[in-house]
Parts: sequence; C-alpha cells; structure tokens
Amino acid sequence: MVLTRRSFLSCGAAITISIGCGGKLVLDRSAALDLGLDQRVQDIIYYASLAPSGHNTQPWLVEIEAGEFRLQGRMTVRLDSSRALPAVDPTLRETCISIGAFIENLVRAFDAYGYSTELSFNEQLDASAENPIVVEIVYAQTASHLPRIQALELMAKRHSDKSEYLDKPICTSSLAQLSGQFPELSCYEKGSTGFDWLKTATLDANIVQAADLAKRAELAQWLRFSDEEATEKADGLPAEQLGLSGIIKTLYYWTTDRESAQSDKFAQQGVDMAKNALDHCAAFFVLTGGSGSYEAVLTGRRVQAFWLAATELGISLGPMSQALEEILWASKIDSELGLEQPAQMLFRAGYVENYGENNRIRRPVSAYCTQL
Ligand SMILES: Cc1cc2nc3c(=O)[nH]c(=O)nc-3n(C[C@H](O)[C@H](O)[C@H](O)COP(=O)(O)O)c2cc1C
Repeated sequence: MVLTRRSFLSCGAAITISIGCGGKLVLDRSAALDLGLDQRVQDIIYYASLAPSGHNTQPWLVEIEAGEFRLQGRMTVRLDSSRALPAVDPTLRETCISIGAFIENLVRAFDAYGYSTELSFNEQLDASAENPIVVEIVYAQTASHLPRIQALELMAKRHSDKSEYLDKPICTSSLAQLSGQFPELSCYEKGSTGFDWLKTATLDANIVQAADLAKRAELAQWLRFSDEEATEKADGLPAEQLGLSGIIKTLYYWTTDRESAQSDKFAQQGVDMAKNALDHCAAFFVLTGGSGSYEAVLTGRRVQAFWLAATELGISLGPMSQALEEILWASKIDSELGLEQPAQMLFRAGYVENYGENNRIRRPVSAYCTQL
C-alpha cells in the first residue's frame, strides 16, 4: 500500500491510497484520529458523504454507539434540521431525498468493505421535527478483504454535471438496462412531446424562481465566493459546483459577493445558464416515488442507485428541480407526463467527452459524526 498526499480544490487534506494495480481510493483522512473511530468505519462514512444533496447542504448527522467499531456496531443517521432549505424546499422533500442518497452510499460502502448492514427506518419520519432520526443501522463485518475498489470509485466518480452535453442520443441498450433496473424511471428523449414539455417547464420555473427574493437569498447563503470560503465551509456551491473553472472561475470570484449574488443581473445569468444547459442535452430522466418524508428517503436511495448505474454507463446527469419546486408546474407534471406516481426528481441527461469525477467538496467526517 503506497500513501501519497495530494490536495483537491485546496479543500482540506486528502490522501490517495493506491492499492494493487492502479486502483485508487481518495479519502479525507483529516479527521481520522480525533474521532477515535476505526479507520475503515470512518472511511465508509466519508464515501457515503459523496452522495448528492440539494445546494450541497450535506444535511446528515451520524451518531455511532461507542463500542467495538471494527467488527460490529450500531449507528444512527439523523436529518440535520439546520441544513434544510426552507425557501425552495419547505416540505423538506428534497432534504429527505438527499439523506436517502447518503444512506444508499453508506450501505454500498459498508458492503464494499466487507460488512453486512441491517436497516431500521423511522417510517413515521416527521422531517419538520428537530434533527429527526431517519434510520438505525447495525453493521457487522462478514468478510475480511481489501475494499472492493470499483464500488467505491463509482461513488467518487458520480457527480452533477452542469456542462453542455454532446448532441448524441442516449444509447438504446443503456436505456433498456436502466428501465429494467428502475421501474420508477421514465426517459423523455429529445424530440419527444414529454421532452419539450419538461424543457419549457424547467426554463419557465427557473425564471419564476429567479424572481423570488427569498429563494435568491437562500441560494446566496450556500454559494461560495472564494477558494478560502470553499475550503473553510467545505459544503455549498463554490465555482466548481456551478461548472466554472479557469479564468471564468477567477472572474466570477472577483466580481461576485453575497450581495451581488442576489441581484437581478445574477438571477438573469442563472436563467441564461439553465437555458444553455437545456439546449444541450439528449434527454430528461424522471424518477417517481411515493409522497411523505419516509417515502422521500426511499426515493433518495433509488436516486443514488440510478445515478451510480448511469455513471457506470457513462451517462452524465444534472438535476434540475425547479419544475418540482414551483407549484405552477409541480401541480401539472404528473398529469402532463401521464405518471402513475408523483415525479420526485428530474435530471437532464447526455454524454460528454470525458465523464470526469466528483469535485469532492465535502465536510470532514468529524463535522457531522459523533460518538455516543
Ligand atoms: C434532491 C436534490 C435536488 C437537486 N437539485 C438541483 C438543481 O435543481 N439544480 C442543480 O444544479 N443541482 C441540483 N442538485 C445537485 C446538487 O447541487 C449536487 O448534488 C451537490 O452540489 C453536490 O454535487 P455532486 O452531485 O457533484 O456531488 C440536486 C441534488 C439533490 C440531491
């Protein structure tokens, strides 16, 4: 095992561990020792944190019962109420989806490290309560092997892609595979009526949302305006999460602050970026799911499972949630698309030249994990 230190986005300390022939795990080890946790359990939680979350709020809290962490243990995942998005997500539906995605990664990471897991969900989840318990997980080591790198690498690869996608349809066999695997998934390819409706609805919902001062203010709280702020907070939306790099990123940080990010000009730029993204994609994917907080957590698990499967197939995805956040479109989407269950997540989809990897703007495990 070779240890080499590297940094990404100057965000915290990261260590790349090379195992065997070329496989690489990228872990944030900065908080490894202060928690006193078994290193593997801590690494597993870090991988879970590579899950997506609305505005990258990372709204999870993890409590681990003191004891023998290495072979078996019990942990609780709670929703961190201080990280909700009341303006765009007043019912916490998206926050629950984000937690569900975290739980899906957690289960997969445990599995990759040779642990079995038993999950007991809070089926009466009241997402509006303070830091409610979402799930209790009992884990036990069942196999002693090196981590299965491919599963972990997939989590470190998956990301939201805001770039322009190629003018290339989604491969038919990939579509068949995904629809077979995810019955709750519908795909609307460019040129179809459903695609046109989703494209127009998403753009119009973006325009309405961009005019809402409370939503602008909330977004500005989660935007980051320098590398220093991005490093310090390790969450939210720095330039990279907006798809900005190089000189454009430098200019953005030079010219934008929390106040100007709430201006009409900035809001219009956001709408222009959304329009450009919508003009450059091959399809929309819509995932449906039941209503209520617990159901939203389960949807989040499926969102993440689907996203990882799409990543494996080289399909880039970018969530565009505005049509589900604005009542004018949210109230119509299911009937317009003829869906049997409510739409819960909208993605634009397509291919890019190089899929790339996750920016890994994530807080250290010690920021949200405590020992009981
Ligand atoms: C429930 C949910 C809703 C989201 N909605 C949007 C959205 O409307 N627009 C967007 O650009 N990204 C959206 N995202 C993506 C997040 O911004 C992204 O997951 C986060 O910044 C972390 O980046 P990553 O996915 O590359 O790891 C959403 C993610 C989740 C889980």
